[in-house]
Amino acid sequence: MMRPIIFCMAMIAFLFTQACQPKGKALPPMKTTVFGTLPDGRPVHQYTLENRSGASAQIIDYGAAVTSLKVPDRNGKLEDVVLGYDSLQGYVDGTSYFGAIVGRYGNRIGKGRFVLDGKEYQLTVNDGENHLHGGAVGFNKVLWEAMPPDSGEASLRLQVVSKDGEEGYPGTVTLRVTYTLTDKNELRIDYEGTTDRPPILNPTQHSYFNLSGAFDRPILDHLLMIEADGVTPVGAGLIPTGRITDVANTPMDFRKPMAIGTHIDDPDAQLALGKGYDHNWVLRGAAGRVRKAAELYEAGSGRMMTVFTDQPGLQFYSGNFLDGSAKGKNGIAYGHRSGLCLETQAFPDTPNKPQFPSVTLRPGQVYRQTTLYQFSTK
Ligand code: BGC
Repeated sequence: MMRPIIFCMAMIAFLFTQACQPKGKALPPMKTTVFGTLPDGRPVHQYTLENRSGASAQIIDYGAAVTSLKVPDRNGKLEDVVLGYDSLQGYVDGTSYFGAIVGRYGNRIGKGRFVLDGKEYQLTVNDGENHLHGGAVGFNKVLWEAMPPDSGEASLRLQVVSKDGEEGYPGTVTLRVTYTLTDKNELRIDYEGTTDRPPILNPTQHSYFNLSGAFDRPILDHLLMIEADGVTPVGAGLIPTGRITDVANTPMDFRKPMAIGTHIDDPDAQLALGKGYDHNWVLRGAAGRVRKAAELYEAGSGRMMTVFTDQPGLQFYSGNFLDGSAKGKNGIAYGHRSGLCLETQAFPDTPNKPQFPSVTLRPGQVYRQTTLYQFSTK
């Protein structure tokens, strides 16, 4: 009795999904290939998402890393706009977090130490005397479990389980990340995290963009606009002082589109500490609601990338530590500032800054983040 009803409902849902799709174009099936093999023999897969507009994203289950993102220029020419490696070895050995999901804590925690519910925790220290991007074996250095997509869009869901005590973090955390390449050329990233005891959680996406598609060129001519009136200035080791300062009359003022190279080498104390831009901007508007965070434009190709997020902060990192030693795709050495990151997240060192929006997750709560990188041309 129930079966025909369920069948009819499934048919109606299927026909509805079909009716909502652009006419005449079926979604290309997701391709899966073996990208490489880890030293312990486990295969790493690469998944290719292609949308109905011809754009594509490739993602590997190692580090949940985006390995390529091909979007059109103003003449419709598809080119890859993210830095990365041709082979798995690059991702296993690399120290630049190309394309990966980083965490549990994306960004820095001073001295790797914090107090939560009256107990002090010591995390792995892996960046001078501080903790960076989850420690020695963060989310970028583990094999995630890929799960079948559950929507009518080009999407891939990946899951990682981080056990209590890993890298010093309390609580077991299960994090799911869903990448969706929409037909509007948006790479949407939805995060969902749960726990069994209170941990801190602040994952982010660490793609390096170069919208020219020419990775031997620096990103200094890209125009950047950030929807922020304030930044969290840093002290030594790039740990925030805890204050929020106005961007007006400083090289941090990206309220109107400005070429990244305009002030990057100015004699400015904050720029000196970061060796360029490596700071957190305090985004306008209430966190928890997806709103526009930034715009990046490269005039040669006409490519524009608009970032939307529900996070309170945006770390703009201008690739200052790239020095040509990383040999990337097609054998290109990634030179100084040849890619830039726009990392949507909570503020750095929040566990030691009670005045910053909290990153504590409690059992029964669900950590959520939605971030979109939308590509267009002009
Ligand atoms: C940080 C940089 C760091 C880089 C590592 C960025 O998110 O802000 O300071 O060097 O990640 O690739």
